[in-house]
Amino acid sequence: MFDHLHPHLLLLLVLLPIFFITLLAQSNNSTHPSCRFDRCGNVNISYPFWKMDSDSTSQFCGYQGFGIRCSEQDIPEISLGGNPYYIRVIDYEYGTIFLSDYDVSPVVRGPNNCPRIRHDINIGNLPFVFVQSTVNISFHFDCNECPSFATEIPCLQRNGEKACLTNISREESVWDEYSCDQEVVTTVFQDVMDLIFDVTTNFSSALEKGFGLRWEPINECQKCEESDGQCGRRNEIEFICFCSDGTTSKGYCKGTFVRNFF
Ligand SMILES: *[C@@H]1O[C@H](CO)[C@@H](O)[C@H](O)[C@H]1NC(C)=O
Ligand SMILES: *[C@@H]1O[C@H](CO)[C@@H](O)[C@H](O)[C@H]1NC(C)=O
Ligand SMILES: *[C@@H]1O[C@H](CO)[C@@H](O)[C@H](O)[C@H]1NC(C)=O
Ligand SMILES: *[C@@H]1O[C@H](CO)[C@@H](O)[C@H](O)[C@H]1NC(C)=O
Ligand SMILES: *[C@@H]1O[C@H](CO)[C@@H](O)[C@H](O)[C@H]1NC(C)=O
Ligand SMILES: *[C@@H]1O[C@H](CO)[C@@H](O)[C@H](O)[C@H]1NC(C)=O
Repeated sequence: MFDHLHPHLLLLLVLLPIFFITLLAQSNNSTHPSCRFDRCGNVNISYPFWKMDSDSTSQFCGYQGFGIRCSEQDIPEISLGGNPYYIRVIDYEYGTIFLSDYDVSPVVRGPNNCPRIRHDINIGNLPFVFVQSTVNISFHFDCNECPSFATEIPCLQRNGEKACLTNISREESVWDEYSCDQEVVTTVFQDVMDLIFDVTTNFSSALEKGFGLRWEPINECQKCEESDGQCGRRNEIEFICFCSDGTTSKGYCKGTFVRNFF
């Protein structure tokens, strides 16, 4: 097939890819300063998460909504739907983050056998999905009675009105006749729930362990990440791709198209 080609041209054809591959190999992981590694307490913060600080208000490297606030006590916190969650662990290998509600976290609030959960978990349009080993439980507050399919939680009683806990979803149950004032749904690990001997007195340990979320790649970022870049934003709005050679781009990193070509 190459019979008619000049030997030098042939050599060039062979060497050219090697040349580019070598070039690529040299673009190592010394990323842009904005994508720097950080810590808060025991939690390592790296892409797609980023640490919120005075610099990150003008630009950050990571996914929108993945900013981590680090308190003065070194407690890492992320906000979902405007509510703070304590970050227990981030597992970068499996792309999973483990959280518990700030209101019920002993790390944040101190030990409490009877924490009151105040709001649903609102992921909004962040690219998170609940890990499979979790289940939803719902608290119904200020009820005149607890139905047979729910467990009464005496310590959460208020002004003589009862608090009930169930793992049966709203769709599969009727609460009208119990005149509850508020329902809050939260997510916990199934195995932690199964281990609890007495939910009535021990539901706090399930809330403490919280839940896990898996993060997924975001479309907007795909091209940038495929070109070995990391996405971020400037001034809150402008998309920006941080490249491994230290440059930034509005789309994806230059030069890396070579790899796709060969
Ligand atoms: C990575 O890049 C840095 C500077 O950007 C350089 O000092 C270092 O030698 C490089 N490492 C490798 C393994 O290429
Ligand atoms: C950069 O690091 C990632 C994992 O963090 C690895 O998959 C990738 O091969 C590295 N790239 C280079 C050019 O070293
Ligand atoms: C955090 O990063 C450091 C340095 O890379 C590493 O030694 C440590 O094991 C990491 N900790 C966790 C909890 O992943
Ligand atoms: C729990 O509820 C959330 C909505 O709050 C839903 O996205 C999730 O799929 C539910 N989990 C299970 C196991 O049903
Ligand atoms: C609720 O919990 C009970 C007891 O652990 C279990 O048998 C049942 O399957 C659960 N129901 C749902 C809908 O998860
Ligand atoms: C609560 O559950 C944990 C395990 O989830 C157990 O170690 C502890 O003894 C339980 N406490 C009570 C009062 O049942």
